[in-house]
Amino acid sequence: MTLKIQNICCIGAGYVGGPTMAVIAKNCPNIKVTVVDNNKERIDAWNSSDLSKLPIYEPGLDEIVKRCRGRNLSFSTQINENIASADMVFISVNTPTKTKGLGAGKASDLKWVEACARQVAINAKKHTIVVEKSTLPVRTAEVIKTILEDAQLSSATPYKNSTFEVLSNPEFLSEGSAIQDLEEPDRVLIGGDNEEAIEALSQIYKQWVPSKKILKTNIWSSELAKLTANAFLAQRISSINAIGALCEATGADVREVSRAIGSDSRIGSKFLDSGPGFGGSCFKKDILNLVYLSRYFGLPEVADFWEGVVFLNTWHQHRISELIVKKLFGTLSGKKIVVLGFAFKANTNDTRESAAIQICKDLLQEGALLFIHDPKVDSKQIEVDLERPQMNKSIKAGDLPSQSGEWKTISNLYDGLPNSDAILILTEWLEYSNINWEKVAKTMRRPAWVFDARSIINPSQVLQSGLKLWRVGDGSQVH
Ligand code: UDX
Ligand code: ADP
Repeated sequence: MTLKIQNICCIGAGYVGGPTMAVIAKNCPNIKVTVVDNNKERIDAWNSSDLSKLPIYEPGLDEIVKRCRGRNLSFSTQINENIASADMVFISVNTPTKTKGLGAGKASDLKWVEACARQVAINAKKHTIVVEKSTLPVRTAEVIKTILEDAQLSSATPYKNSTFEVLSNPEFLSEGSAIQDLEEPDRVLIGGDNEEAIEALSQIYKQWVPSKKILKTNIWSSELAKLTANAFLAQRISSINAIGALCEATGADVREVSRAIGSDSRIGSKFLDSGPGFGGSCFKKDILNLVYLSRYFGLPEVADFWEGVVFLNTWHQHRISELIVKKLFGTLSGKKIVVLGFAFKANTNDTRESAAIQICKDLLQEGALLFIHDPKVDSKQIEVDLERPQMNKSIKAGDLPSQSGEWKTISNLYDGLPNSDAILILTEWLEYSNINWEKVAKTMRRPAWVFDARSIINPSQVLQSGLKLWRVGDGSQVH
């Protein structure tokens, strides 16, 4: 017999929980879906009548929230009550890398997951299926299970008759295309050892996902598959960025190399774009988790192999900042650089681990004056990421640079251009591929450079307008 799920509670209203639950609510109108979070500001934003104020920007998300909110989708800070009435609880809380203690810098900090498990243990009143959705280190399900089961033995637990099953259902959604990834996933992975619970979760997905795309594995394979998928994807990016550096040195062009290798069906063409280095909340964290696990299980060679992917990424970001300094005559003191894009990729307002953070910090360290533009990232976030306040002196267009090691945001990218020495493209927002280079060139201070770390501009237009150009992985300037 299949358990019928009528009430879902998702703990964590972030990048994973919000969009995932919105898509479940849309496709399962008979299931009541409540997303809870202990951050009241975030919940208020999810409940905002102005849909442009949702805490997360994802194309298509606002439409779904508009359709389902108040129908079978709600957002609340009442965590205990919603756990109590749920048949299924998703855990979608953040699991950043630990900053101190055992495993610092590598292992994931599970304190939020642990807190959730304890909260579920105390408040669940009936048979509850707990689904781990956050990216977690392998064997976390065991931790959750132990907490849930042991709580039943404690005198502090009020409802002694609750029973639990734990499933792993990792998220493969990619920010910026989260809604599409959720609506048409390549696969849905469900790990667990209880057939009835697995079937209950798979019935939910079957409302819109073909059965053949729903893969069932044991719980450890499911957890490890998530880390491995991200590690493989990140590895491709470090590989192509490494080859890009070689292209720049030898006269080859990384776009041509990517096209040539990507047409081998064994390699495939996706995830072969050289850029400023991978960012996002998952890649680095998941690889560091693999590294930690490998060392823990006595496999230092495996750990070193995967750690190399992260080393290469960091090296590549510093390489870009260094080459900018070299091209601008070895000093950035008082030089104006317009930075286009701060998000870790286009179509998101997320800046977690964005290459822009490290590169901008390097440039500020060299004394540059940065005018940062991003269509979706707000200046408060940039302030947090760069760990220094925005300059308060109002610099007007046309002013010659007089300060060093300062930054400010601009809402129109053309505003920062007068007397600037360079433009640096770090995020592949569509609007940056349609820049009027002739107009731009007239206002910059010569010799003026365009550094395109995303390879999205038309090189001949830039060169014809008299600007100097560096493109990632492009060795065509080598003589
Ligand atoms: C990733 C995984 O794709 C997703 O399956 C997982 O669930 C979460 O982590 P996300 O972090 O949203 O998703 O971004 P993704 O599109 O994978 O890009 C990650 C980084 O790699 C970005 O900084 C992006 O700009 C960079 N990238 C991607 C490249 O530099 N080149 C490419 O060819 C592809
Ligand atoms: P992700 O990208 O994994 O979704 P986010 O940081 O965007 O991560 O979202 C995680 C959310 O989980 C945050 O909004 C945070 O407030 C919430 N959260 C963390 N711990 C708890 C908890 N114990 N109870 C409720 N919400 C929590």
